[in-house]
Formats: sequence, C-alpha cells, structure tokens
Amino acid sequence: MKGCFLLVSFALVHHIAGDDYVVSNRRFPKDFKFGTASAAYQIEGGWNADGKGENIWDRSTHLYPEKNSYANGDVACDSYNKWQEDVELLKGMGVSAYRFSIAWSRVLPTGFVNSSNPAGIAYYKNLIAALKANNIEPLVTMHHWDIPTVLEDLGGFLNSDMQEWFLDYARFLFETFGEDIKDWVTFNEPKQTCGQGYGTGELAPNMLMEKPTDYMKLNSKINKKKSNYEDIEAAERNLIFTFGWFGHPINFGDYPEIMKERIANRSLLEGFETSRLPSFTEEEKRIINGTADFICVNIYTSSMVNAIPEPEIRPLSPTRDLDIGTNVFQPDYWEPTITSWFKVVPWGARKLVNWISNQYGHPEIMVTENGYHDNGTVIHDMDTRGRYHKLYLSNLQDALYKDGVNLTGYMAWALTDDFEWQFGYNIQLGLYQVNFTDPDRPRTPKDSSKYYRHVVTTRCLLVDEECID
Ligand SMILES: *[C@@H]1O[C@H](CO)[C@@H](O)[C@H](O)[C@H]1NC(C)=O
Ligand SMILES: *[C@@H]1O[C@H](CO)[C@@H](O)[C@H](O)[C@H]1NC(C)=O
Ligand SMILES: *[C@@H]1O[C@H](CO)[C@@H](O)[C@H](O)[C@H]1NC(C)=O
Ligand SMILES: *[C@@H]1O[C@H](CO)[C@@H](O)[C@H](O)[C@H]1NC(C)=O
Ligand SMILES: *[C@@H]1O[C@H](CO)[C@@H](O)[C@H](O)[C@H]1NC(C)=O
Ligand SMILES: *[C@@H]1O[C@H](CO)[C@@H](O)[C@H](O)[C@H]1NC(C)=O
Repeated sequence: MKGCFLLVSFALVHHIAGDDYVVSNRRFPKDFKFGTASAAYQIEGGWNADGKGENIWDRSTHLYPEKNSYANGDVACDSYNKWQEDVELLKGMGVSAYRFSIAWSRVLPTGFVNSSNPAGIAYYKNLIAALKANNIEPLVTMHHWDIPTVLEDLGGFLNSDMQEWFLDYARFLFETFGEDIKDWVTFNEPKQTCGQGYGTGELAPNMLMEKPTDYMKLNSKINKKKSNYEDIEAAERNLIFTFGWFGHPINFGDYPEIMKERIANRSLLEGFETSRLPSFTEEEKRIINGTADFICVNIYTSSMVNAIPEPEIRPLSPTRDLDIGTNVFQPDYWEPTITSWFKVVPWGARKLVNWISNQYGHPEIMVTENGYHDNGTVIHDMDTRGRYHKLYLSNLQDALYKDGVNLTGYMAWALTDDFEWQFGYNIQLGLYQVNFTDPDRPRTPKDSSKYYRHVVTTRCLLVDEECID
C-alpha cells in the first residue's frame, strides 16, 4: 500500500523551451498507468441518499448558490446510481487505472468513526470490485475537498484536532478498503483548500479569514518587462512557495528555508512578535519527514512571474504574493481557451515534473489530473481537448525518456463532464459529455475519448504505424 501527497495545480515556469509542439513518436512504457480521474462531489450526486451526511460542498451550494454559479452537485452525473455505466466507459477506453475520491460524509456521515454508513461503504466496495474485475487499478483520494459539516462546525482544518479526525478516517479507510487499494492519495490540492477555502472564500467552506492568516491575491499591475536574473530567481521562489510549502515538509520534514526566512522577516517588519508561518515541533518534523511513497501533481496550465524587488509591507493585510515577492501572469500571446486564466502551455508540464523530480531526489511521480476545459457543448473536440492531451502527454513523455523523470502514470481529467466547483456546469473537461438537463444524465463519447482509447491501447500518440518502442 502506498500513499502520495498531492501537490497543487499550477505550474510556474519561467521561459519557453525548444520543440514543444513536435509530438513524440515513441511508445509509452508497457507498465505506464493510463487512467482518468474524478472526485466524489463532482460526479456522485445522491447528496443525502441512504444515510450520507452533509458535507461542506452540500452546504456551500445550498446556502451560497451565488458562489457556485447557481448550481450544485445534488445529482451531478448521478454516478451514485450510474457507477456501473462509468466502469463500462473506463473498460471501453482500455484504461488500467481510475482515480476517484471517497466522500468522507458518505462512509462516515458525521466524520467520526463511530458513525459508519453501511450503504456508503457498500457503494465504494462495489465500485472497487467492479474496477478490479476489469483490471482497472483504483487510485483513491481520501480528501477531495468535501469534509463533513459536523467537522467543519468544530473548526474544520483550523482545529488541530483535524489531525486526529483525519487519522481515524484514514485508518478506517485502510481497514475497510485497504486490501483492494494499492495506491492512496491523501489530500487533493491542499493549496486550494488553504488559499481559497479558508483564504479568499471562493471555495467551500467559503471562509474569508481575518488577517493575517489570509493569503489573498494581489491585484497589482503586471509589469511586463523582459526577464532578468531577479525574475528567474522569483520564478524559483514562487515554485518553492507553491510546491515546497507542502512538498518540503513531507520530503524533508520542514518548510523551505526561504519561506521561513522571508515570512519571518516580513512578519517582524509588519509588527508581529513571531512569524506568521507556523513552525513544526520536533515531533511533527519526525512524523512527517519522508512520508510520501510517490508524488502526485495536477497540471492544467502555467504562469510566468516577475519579481517585485521590494514588496510593500502591509501590517494589516499581508498576502502570500507579497511574501513571495512576485507578480504572476499569463502572457496574452499564449494560446487561449474560453477562460482568461487557462492558457494551453504543454511545455510547462515537462518543466514542472522536472522541477519536482530534481527537488525531491527523483521520486516516482504521477500526474493525477490534466485536462482541457470548454463550455461542454463540443463533441468534436479533437482539435481542442484531444490535441491538448496529445501535446501535454508528448511533453510529459519527453520528461520521462529524455530527462529521466520517474513518471509512472497519467490520469486525464475527467472521465465525464461534471460539477466544476464554483464554475458549476459552465466549464467542462470530460472525455464523455453528460446531458445535465436530462434526468437520466446520458453520457456521450467525445472525439477525445476515442483518441484517448487509441493512446491507451497503443501507447502511441500518433497513428500506430508511426510509433517506435
Ligand atoms: C462519536 O464520536 C464523537 C467524537 O469522539 C463524539 O463526540 C460523539 O458523541 C460520538 N457519537 C456517538 C453516537 O457515540
Ligand atoms: C528528515 O530526514 C532526513 C533523512 O533522515 C534527515 O537528513 C533530515 O535532517 C530530516 N529533516 C528534519 C527537519 O529533521
Ligand atoms: C532576513 O533578515 C535578515 C536580517 O536582516 C537578513 O540577513 C536576511 O537576508 C533576510 N532574509 C531574507 C530572505 O530576506
Ligand atoms: C520508478 O518508480 C517505480 C515505482 O516506485 C520503481 O519501481 C522504479 O524502480 C523507479 N524507476 C527509476 C528509474 O527510479
Ligand atoms: C460553446 O463553444 C462553442 C465552440 O467554441 C461555440 O461554438 C458555442 O457557441 C458555445 N456555446 C455557448 C452556449 O456558449
Ligand atoms: C439534453 O436532454 C434534454 C432533455 O431530455 C433534451 O431536450 C436535449 O435535447 C438534450 N441535449 C442534448 C445536447 O442532447
């Protein structure tokens, strides 16, 4: 049984590399894990079915529809009822892995182990059994953003008892499902939980934190001057503050030095008595040091940064961006999609997995999400979504073969269209379309699903005859 710690979704890279759009003609290794990914709240529906407890997304979508594009996951793709059909879709594509998450509140409605829900346990047992019967390896996320509201009402992640609650939950999962699950993912995108769940309030539990724990976004103007040494250093610093924030503690037992030093220095100048960054006790360092068996990363897009040489000291409103001392932006000339913050940057994926590999001593790395979004109406998506997966996979394969990154798997986001958090159903990334106005939630293959089937079954990104081993 192995566990990974999932890092965050954005690659921060500095500049463009060579043949980024030349698609590799090499085949992926025979044991490379191709799969698709999903998350419980985004697909299951059945929000209060058969004893499931309320979680923070049920509450957020019901209480604050305006924060969630006036949509919710009450039914979503109805995978709570249609899971067998989803397994058939996976089987049809020939994938060898499927990443999904267990809804904590479905198996433990109050969050505590004394409240287990047999119907919820049976749901996941059946899903896991069906996957294994079809030679599809389950890759299970324990926390994909949806803690039970009972725990949130006790403070959620702001209460240090969360460590115990999570430990009990994790033990419960190992005992209940462990025999069938080789690989576990602990926390999906913890940066988003910290920064948007408890910082800006964009995501459940929609907490707009009182300063100074708040890591708000900086709305300063972008200075598009040419790259220089300071900017290169700033890009490195931003990666350390973004990935090292989580990656360093689990790989080395503590926060990165640069993070500790900058936040401590700035906290003093702001008038705080101690650093705003918490410190680990010696015991915590020992416990956390070296706890990941492999590293997972979700990759969607990339950004450029430039340095803010002397970031303003704002005693009442310190921000993470000021702590880092960078402006983050995406150049206008990068290939656009329907949203302003999502540019297609395939070479960024190669750079990012290289960075992680070099930082952490060449560990096993898995890409646990990668996908392209549009408005969900496009079935013939080979020129957009299909091409996106092709180019990203080609760059990731270069990282594997040319750079020696130990990349062992790739989970395309997503199997089906789904509930996309604060965007509701307005953006979609599925290889299968779901008709969300039809009560039966029918799935329709997009062209990209056929391309992915080709890739998975031939391990080749081009037409079969063009590929070599
Ligand atoms: C379950 O455990 C929690 C936490 O220990 C406790 O507060 C609660 O009273 C328990 N509930 C029952 C029904 O035993
Ligand atoms: C983490 O473990 C490594 C290897 O045992 C050790 O070198 C390092 O000092 C530890 N880190 C901390 C912060 O104690
Ligand atoms: C922090 O402050 C100390 C003392 O002023 C200084 O030597 C050091 O360079 C500063 N570090 C950073 C990362 O700014
Ligand atoms: C890559 O990781 C896998 C799984 O941990 C391991 O079996 C393999 O030896 C590693 N390969 C290299 C080249 O380090
Ligand atoms: C969705 O996107 C497609 C392709 O870009 C476009 O043709 C269509 O008009 C869009 N539909 C809506 C409802 O925005
Ligand atoms: C979705 O389902 C509704 C209700 O059955 C139907 O009217 C509509 O045409 C469907 N949309 C598409 C794109 O198939």
